[in-house]
Amino acid sequence: MQSYEKLLSYNKAWAARKLTEDPDYFNRMADIQEPEFLWIGCSDSRVPANQITGTKPGEIFVHRNVANMVIHTDLNLLTVLEFAVHHLKVKHVIVCGHYGCGGVKAAMTQHNFGIINKWIRNIKDVHRIHQEEVDNIPDEISRLNRMVELNVQEQVMNLAKTSIIQKAWKQSHYPHLHGWVYGLDNGLISPVFEMSADTPIDPLYQFDDL
Ligand code: CO
Repeated sequence: MQSYEKLLSYNKAWAARKLTEDPDYFNRMADIQEPEFLWIGCSDSRVPANQITGTKPGEIFVHRNVANMVIHTDLNLLTVLEFAVHHLKVKHVIVCGHYGCGGVKAAMTQHNFGIINKWIRNIKDVHRIHQEEVDNIPDEISRLNRMVELNVQEQVMNLAKTSIIQKAWKQSHYPHLHGWVYGLDNGLISPVFEMSADTPIDPLYQFDDL
């Protein structure tokens, strides 16, 4: 059996097991989704949103990209955010990074990654904003891991800079924004930055005509 065929055979067994446990399961799932959470995580295969948070299908709306970035020209992210916040009306948006992130690590080198440069340029901007703190950390792994935390913080702040979030805060006082970091070596999530709904933001980024 080819490796990918195992996925299909597992899927058959899983669907059958679900039906045995709960004959109405797929009828319910096909009907409507009402997730309370939007997860913006890294594409890294070791950080699966559902497994590490114990959430089931239907409970968490997921967007993943390299280094869990919130980039204001990323139509994919913006579409997910608009849909999750204004249609699904999620109560919480979670940006979850992870220690040892390869995307953040790449951004801290001067290596030319071709087209990937354009994506990780945004992480270099995070480094520039926090350069004094980051560059004063002597140990390389600690420096990378602090950058992972600061990147999560900046991405949460990027969420608050969008008209999507500002409009939702004005209309419904939701969602709350959370910055978390997952530890690959211990499986634990550490909250590193929180922005509850209606947190005042820098007036430079505020829209007055929402
Ligand atoms: Co990563």
